[in-house]
Amino acid sequence: MNAHIVVLPGDGIGPEVTAEAVRVLDLVAREAGHAFSFTEHLMGGCSIDAHGVALTDEVLAACKGASAVLLGAVGGPKWDDPSAKVRPEQGLLGLRKGLGVFANLRPVRVLEELIDASPLKPDRLRGVDILVIRELTGGLYFGQPKGRDRKDGHERAVDTLEYQDFEVRRVVELAFRLAKARRAKVTSVDKANVLESSRLWRQVATEIGKANPDVALDHMLVDTAAMRLVTSPASLDVVVTENMFGDILTDEASVLAGSMGMLPSASIGAGGPGLYEPIHGSAPDIAGKGIANPVGTILSTAMLLRHSLDLPAEARRVEAAVDLAIRDGCRTRDLGGTLSTREMADAIVLRLDGKSRPVRVARRVERKSAKAAKAKPKARAKRAKKRSASGARRRRAG
Ligand code: IPM
Ligand code: MG
Repeated sequence: MNAHIVVLPGDGIGPEVTAEAVRVLDLVAREAGHAFSFTEHLMGGCSIDAHGVALTDEVLAACKGASAVLLGAVGGPKWDDPSAKVRPEQGLLGLRKGLGVFANLRPVRVLEELIDASPLKPDRLRGVDILVIRELTGGLYFGQPKGRDRKDGHERAVDTLEYQDFEVRRVVELAFRLAKARRAKVTSVDKANVLESSRLWRQVATEIGKANPDVALDHMLVDTAAMRLVTSPASLDVVVTENMFGDILTDEASVLAGSMGMLPSASIGAGGPGLYEPIHGSAPDIAGKGIANPVGTILSTAMLLRHSLDLPAEARRVEAAVDLAIRDGCRTRDLGGTLSTREMADAIVLRLDGKSRPVRVARRVERKSAKAAKAKPKARAKRAKKRSASGARRRRAG
């Protein structure tokens, strides 16, 4: 298969994680006999610096013409002035709207090996496998009117939460379709006790539920859902919700997986190119250090293979390699490990053959240092001298 992927590395850690994800994607494609081409473009703060806007018409056109779009992250302190007219996030929102990707799929799976990386109690985390589907091109993010003015001598700000029935229908229908290949359970999240838009949401979801009796539907208020996510996350299967509720709930859900750096996402619409991005942000505090976790972006390429290119076997190969790397003990710093972005990606590449390689080196070093701690100080000093003379410094990704 030939495919053309537009890569938008963006800001902060975006370029670091997309570089590794492209490496994995390209390798998997080549080994399966596909020819993928990649073109990079500016989007976000870097585009503001170069062109004065976060997303140029040319870049949007290039994305529309691609088989799929892979994105890193946008934003950073440099462009954070709240009164600024031009903001990096406008690029991301413009891209989502421009591509018509109305459904954002955010799977949250808890790997047994990462249970300790989460602040939640282990018994709450076992068996968690949730697919959050966030409506992405409507709601509070896009509703009009929106803006600032003065009213009765005060400054006023307005955002509008607006949905039309068809916008709710298409995303909830997708949730039902995807639920049928899972545990056949949809939780529709709204705030129908207060918001009119949520009452419409619930009405449409109920209609779709009646037409799909093979799927269990329940409705949950967003405040209850926020609580359920941490009290009984394993009871949730597919969760479908409005744009901003989904934004908030998925950051909360990322804690279940041990780190935000682990979570991928796929934004898909009515058949055009999909947009694939990790759910984490640009993490300016660690940008440029080469220590960001590339897993969320690498898993986003697996979603790209599955949803945009219809290559499920290749997608599974990437996912299996990530699982193996984690099972074998490979960890970036957000997960309590020491691997760099590149080393973590190397560890995943190494396991694309489907074989486990427990990280023995790290364990040996641990045992050695435990032994050394017990040894007599004089012997320890002698050994240290010998080590530094030989320049031995072993650090391996797998
Ligand atoms: C996300 C992000 C974005 C959003 C920001 C960067 C605009 O938080 O993808 O979840 O709110 O959608
Ligand atoms: Mg968010």
